[in-house]
Amino acid sequence: MFLSSAVRSTVSQAARQVRGLHRSAARAGAGGIFVHRDTPDNNPDTPFEFTAENKKRIDAILSMYPEGHKQAATIPVLDLAQRQHGWLPISAMNKVAEVLGVAPMRVYEVATFYTMFLRKPVGKYFIQICTTTPCMLCNSDSILEAIQNKLGIKVGETTADKMFTLLEVECLGACVNAPMVQINDNYYEDLTPKDIEQIIDELKAGQVPPPGPRSGRFSCEPAGGLTSLTEPPPGPGFGVRADL
Ligand code: FES
Repeated sequence: MFLSSAVRSTVSQAARQVRGLHRSAARAGAGGIFVHRDTPDNNPDTPFEFTAENKKRIDAILSMYPEGHKQAATIPVLDLAQRQHGWLPISAMNKVAEVLGVAPMRVYEVATFYTMFLRKPVGKYFIQICTTTPCMLCNSDSILEAIQNKLGIKVGETTADKMFTLLEVECLGACVNAPMVQINDNYYEDLTPKDIEQIIDELKAGQVPPPGPRSGRFSCEPAGGLTSLTEPPPGPGFGVRADL
């Protein structure tokens, strides 16, 4: 296709601007290993076997899917492997493939796509900060900065005492409570820099701060208060004509 030099220049300028807008850090962290290289603690011979308890869980998971569709259980079985081992060496992914009866590549594809799957060890507390648009507009940058300053680590790094790992991730589905972070299995929402510093202090002290919004909201109701459903429901029969 022929493009005039003026159009080519406009297109390449637009492409530069689009690239400039993408500010997320490269996925260099725990979830971001796209290419496997054997290491002493991560190779096909790294010991991994599901515990008897997890084998039962796998049977229960697989029983939910019709014959011939075991691959649909890839995510829950990978999650089990990760919860058991703490992260996913290639031997664990190979075991998942074996259990599901699929090619290992089908499992690698999933494990390298989702940031929830960890391709290398992380700290005791794995902090995933969302910086996608709604969180960014609610100043997730200030939360990220507060975490980095507090812990002295950058995105993708783990503290020297192996307590905290920090990863910048895409939307975690709690946009209405932006800005937010996920720490292990808990969501901390409606955050200010002071909130996240307090959360980190409590984790350091061995406590588990209560998850959820820090703004006083119960859940994801409007920040300015309810605008509908403000009274108890009238119950069945409301609005039904008496003569019917
Ligand atoms: S954009 Fe942050 S949770 Fe959706």
